[in-house]
This record gives sequence, structure tokens and C-alpha cells, in this order.
Amino acid sequence: MSCSACQWTSLRPFLSGSLVMLCFISLFIMYRSDIKYLDFGKDSQFCPAFLCGDKAQIHHPNPKSVTKLDAENDTIVLIWMWPFGYRFELDCNTFDIKRCHLTGDKTLYQKAHGIIFNHGDMNGNLENLPKMPRPSFQKWVWSNMESPANSPRILGLNRVFNLTCNYRHDSNIQVPYGYLLPVTSEDKSFKLPAKDKLVCWIVSNWARQQKRVQYYNELKKYVKIHTYGQAFGHHISNEDYPKILSSCKFYLSFENSIYEDYITEKFYNPLIWGSVPVVLGPPKQNYEDHAPPDSFIHVNDFSSPQKLAERLLYLDQNNAEYMRFFNWRSIFKVKRSEFGREHACKTCRYLQNHKEYQAFDDLISWYWG
Ligand SMILES: *[C@@H]1O[C@H](CO)[C@@H](O)[C@H](O)[C@H]1NC(C)=O
Repeated sequence: MSCSACQWTSLRPFLSGSLVMLCFISLFIMYRSDIKYLDFGKDSQFCPAFLCGDKAQIHHPNPKSVTKLDAENDTIVLIWMWPFGYRFELDCNTFDIKRCHLTGDKTLYQKAHGIIFNHGDMNGNLENLPKMPRPSFQKWVWSNMESPANSPRILGLNRVFNLTCNYRHDSNIQVPYGYLLPVTSEDKSFKLPAKDKLVCWIVSNWARQQKRVQYYNELKKYVKIHTYGQAFGHHISNEDYPKILSSCKFYLSFENSIYEDYITEKFYNPLIWGSVPVVLGPPKQNYEDHAPPDSFIHVNDFSSPQKLAERLLYLDQNNAEYMRFFNWRSIFKVKRSEFGREHACKTCRYLQNHKEYQAFDDLISWYWG
């Protein structure tokens, strides 16, 4: 960079020194912003902002193109829109899924075996879908992790997509919010964190007509509930989140809307952090499709919120019985899905195993009923 505007030559050494410093500082910032600080895989335990309903906190790490394209052998998956602006890493090796080329590069449209569209980024219409003719081998994947109540119904969704990628067990590519894996010899044995609260709840999205809000309003008459989150004007940081969960014997895993398989991080987080989820959501049987029966308490097992409160107060006094909620931990550990990347990698694997013709004619009634 030249400094032709500088009149005072005596200042030159000082100015060029500052320039060099500035360069270093900006390089450092660029380097830092490349670090994955929003990886909700094995290292990150908190709910990403947009999954927890707080879309204001999204970070934008730069995507890293990890592999070179081997057009002959690789399955190309084009991410048409970064889900809620979140650019995840384009690498499937940690899932042990090979020969995938994930890309955000739209110039690869003609070559892509599959294209992923995130429902939440469709802006209520199909305007931002590709306009070019679709290659005959290419499959379009409708991806969505929000429940029907939180997903705008878009006209024209039928006869557009070939595959669904969703938390539902009957989607083509199922990505639940989390799952239970067998413990291995490398895993540390579980130690119950110290508890100083009986019941806790962290909630941001609050609406009077929600079943969970009505249930909470009754329950709190019979047992003290420690409340946090935007709904209670008590925003908590990512650091405090696991601390709060760990310090409570029970956590209210109340879903914002009730649908089959819609069992979110609200359930998996307390399991990860050593609290017992008290669930309000789909029926108990559906929870048991995803987690052992002795890992949670279902509100439907109680004739009233008062009866549930009595049970929680009883368990507070009977530690041996409370401890039974942790028996499953000698066999399983909990893993949360990685938003975005896991969807793309599982899509890639699905495409590798399914080259046949597939079409999804009635997405609207499948999802919204
Ligand atoms: C994908 O679905 C569309 C729309 O139904 C259909 O025209 C196309 O042939 C399908 N492609 C494949 C590869 O199955």
C-alpha cells in the first residue's frame, strides 16, 4: 500500500509500523473467525441459537472445502441455501461416510447428484429454487428440522422434491435431534453432578396457548420451578447453560408443539448434562422409540400437574429411587446431531445407496396433514 497522501514524511515510519500492526491484527481476526466455534457435534454441548429459537445469535464461520472433486467417483451434494445462514464444514469423514463432495458452489448444479433445500430458508415461496432444467439423475431433498407448527406451509411443495430429510422416522433421510450410542471403554463412567435445585426450566419462546405454558402454570403451584431464559427475562449464556442443567434434579423438557418424533434438544441436553427430563411432547411410547423408559418422566403418566409435583417431591426425598433414572448410563451415552452437516452427509450416503427413481408427490399432506 502506498501513502501518497501523506505529507509529513517524519510520520512515515510510525504510519507504516501501524499498517503492519493492522495487517497482523486483521489476519489474526480472519484466522480466528475460521475456527469452528459453532460446531454442535461432540465438542459443543449447547443448543445452537437457531435451534433454540433465538435466531439472533447465529455465527458465520467460513466453509472449508476439504476435498478436491473427483467427479467420476464422488457423490456431489449441493447445499442450495446454508440453513439459517449457518455455514458448516463440508466434510463427512467424521461420520465415516466416504466419497462425498459437499459443496455450496452453485456452478456445480449440472453435476450434483442431490441438492438440499432448507425449508426455513425458502421464504414462504419457491422463488429461490433453481430455475435451470433438472438433470435426469439429480434428486432434490426437502430438509427441515422444525415442527409443522413452526414451518410455514408453502403452496407448490408437491411434486417438486424427491426425498425428505427430517427428524421424522418415516422420512427418507432421518436425522433425529440426538441418539443413544453404546458406551465404549474410552468413555468416562458417569458421575452424577452436584444438585442444589429440584426442578428447572429454560424457555425462550412463550405463548399462552402452548400446552407447556398451561402445564407449567399449574405445576408451579405445587413445586418450586427455577426458571431461566428469555421468557422469564433471564437470558443465560452458553457457558451457564450446562451448569444450570447439571445442578437440577429434574428439567422440564417441554416441547413447543406436539408431533410424532418431534423430540428435540430440550430432551437430549438434560440427558447429556446429568439431569432427568420431565417430558411433555408426543406420547410416552414415542419417547421410548428414542430413549430407554427409565431415562425420563412423562407428564401423561400423571392424572394432574399436582400429582406430578408430588412424585418429584417424593423422589427428592428418596435418593435410591431417583438414582434409578441413571442406570441406563452404564450402557448408553447421548450424542446430539450436528445441524446441517449431518443432514448433508446422511443425504450423501442415502444417494449412494439409492440410485433408483424416487419422487415425493404429496409433501404438504405428509407434513402438515
Ligand atoms: C425427482 O422428482 C421429480 C419431480 O417429481 C421428477 O420429475 C424426477 O424425475 C425425479 N428424479 C429422480 C432422479 O428420481
